[in-house]
Amino acid sequence: MPARPHLAVKLANQASPEALLAKLKDTYGAPTPRAKHVDVPWHSSFARLEVHSTKTLPSTSRDWIWNLFERNMRPLYEAQQDGYDAQEKRAEVFHPDSRFLVLSPVPPAAAAGAAPPRPAPLGFCIFRFDTEETASEDDDELCDVAYCYELQVDGAHHGKGIGRVLMDALERTARAWRMDKVMLTVFKANEQALAFYAKVGYTEDEIDPGRFGVLDVDYSILSKSLSP
Ligand SMILES: CC(C)(COP(=O)(O)OP(=O)(O)OC[C@H]1O[C@@H](n2cnc3c(N)ncnc32)[C@H](O)[C@@H]1OP(=O)(O)O)[C@@H](O)C(=O)NCCC(=O)NCCS
Repeated sequence: MPARPHLAVKLANQASPEALLAKLKDTYGAPTPRAKHVDVPWHSSFARLEVHSTKTLPSTSRDWIWNLFERNMRPLYEAQQDGYDAQEKRAEVFHPDSRFLVLSPVPPAAAAGAAPPRPAPLGFCIFRFDTEETASEDDDELCDVAYCYELQVDGAHHGKGIGRVLMDALERTARAWRMDKVMLTVFKANEQALAFYAKVGYTEDEIDPGRFGVLDVDYSILSKSLSP
């Protein structure tokens, strides 16, 4: 990893979840400046998006995120060259630089005097702002990215457009903080995810090992450029 992140990455990493949310709201033209969430278009209705850092993530969301990650991904990790190390993975997921986009159904209106219901979330995305290498021969040429570490949708809700909404929110966030692109790593064996990412506009990144003739790795690096 490069030693010195660019200014845009530094500023984005210093931003609070509230500041990330405020910029994200602007991109949707959302008229709810005080709300701790933004309601984003989903099918012909809306879903509720929250932004958190590892520090602000409620413990119930933390548990839900970890359980969904393990349910969706553990078998896939266990089948890979390096296997699965839960402790290492947990440290990565809840790293201090992790930022979380959590998508839930909009709760039904609460009965008078009752606490508002909190429906179980539908899916989440974890990302970090980072400075990344490029394929340029100039070693100093780096780019600023929102790196998607996880995208997980509850199995009961696959194929309902939730992954698309989450990646769109990530791209809006990345653009708002002047990143050059959104990047991610995906197992080559994860055919469903590869098909999904192709559908939502991701292609092999310039630093994907396959581009350098390195084929004996079990992952691909994909990206989507955010340049206008
Ligand atoms: C991959 C995943 C995130 C996709 O989320 P999703 O909410 O099911 O996907 P969406 O409904 O938003 O699909 C968006 C588009 O991708 C397409 N797509 C989604 N899954 C697909 C699949 N398995 N095969 C082909 N196309 C697929 C959809 O048809 C849709 O296209 P359309 O909008 O033109 O109809 C979800 O299946 C998942 O959580 N998988 C398990 C975890 C995982 O592998 N995460 C990625 C780790 S890198």
